[in-house]
Amino acid sequence: MNDKKKEGRYQRIYVQLLELLKKTDDPLARMASICAVLHHKMEHFFWTGFYLHKDGKLIVGPYQGPVACQELEKDKGVCWAAVRREAPVVVADVHAFPGHIACDSRSKSEITLPVFDPLGQIHAVFDVDSDKPDSFNEVDRKSLEAILGLIFKT
Ligand code: SME
Repeated sequence: MNDKKKEGRYQRIYVQLLELLKKTDDPLARMASICAVLHHKMEHFFWTGFYLHKDGKLIVGPYQGPVACQELEKDKGVCWAAVRREAPVVVADVHAFPGHIACDSRSKSEITLPVFDPLGQIHAVFDVDSDKPDSFNEVDRKSLEAILGLIFKT
C-alpha cells in the first residue's frame, strides 16, 4: 500500500473509532475495539494488540491474530524497548533486532508504541507485527499515535 492510500485509510479508521469509542470511556474496551478495527482494515497487520504494563510486567491484553506470548520477558524485545525509550519503535527486519521476542515465526517487521495514561505513566504498549519485511514507516507511527490518543480521550 502506498503512503497516500495508507494515510487515507488511517484517517477513515480514526473517524470511525471516534464515533465507536464514545459508547464507553473504559480503556480496556476501547483498546479491544481499536485493535479489532485496525486488524480487519489494514491488510499489512498480521498480529495486532496490546501488552498491559502492570506491576513492572508486560502482560498480554486485547489482541487479534495468532496466539501470542502471555508475558514478555523483562527488558527484552521490541515492546520493552518502547517502554524504555518512552517512544515508538519501528523495526524493518525483526531478525536484525537484538533480543526480539518471536511469538510467531511468520512475523517479519514490527512497530511498537507506548500508550500513556492521563498522568503520563505507560499504561500499555501497542504492538503490530507484519508477515512482510519493512511494512511500517512514519505514516503508521503518526497515524497510530493519533488513534491511541483516543484510549483516554474524555
Ligand atoms: N515481538 C514482540 C513480542 C510480542 S509479539 O510480537 C506479539 C517483542 O519483541 O517485544
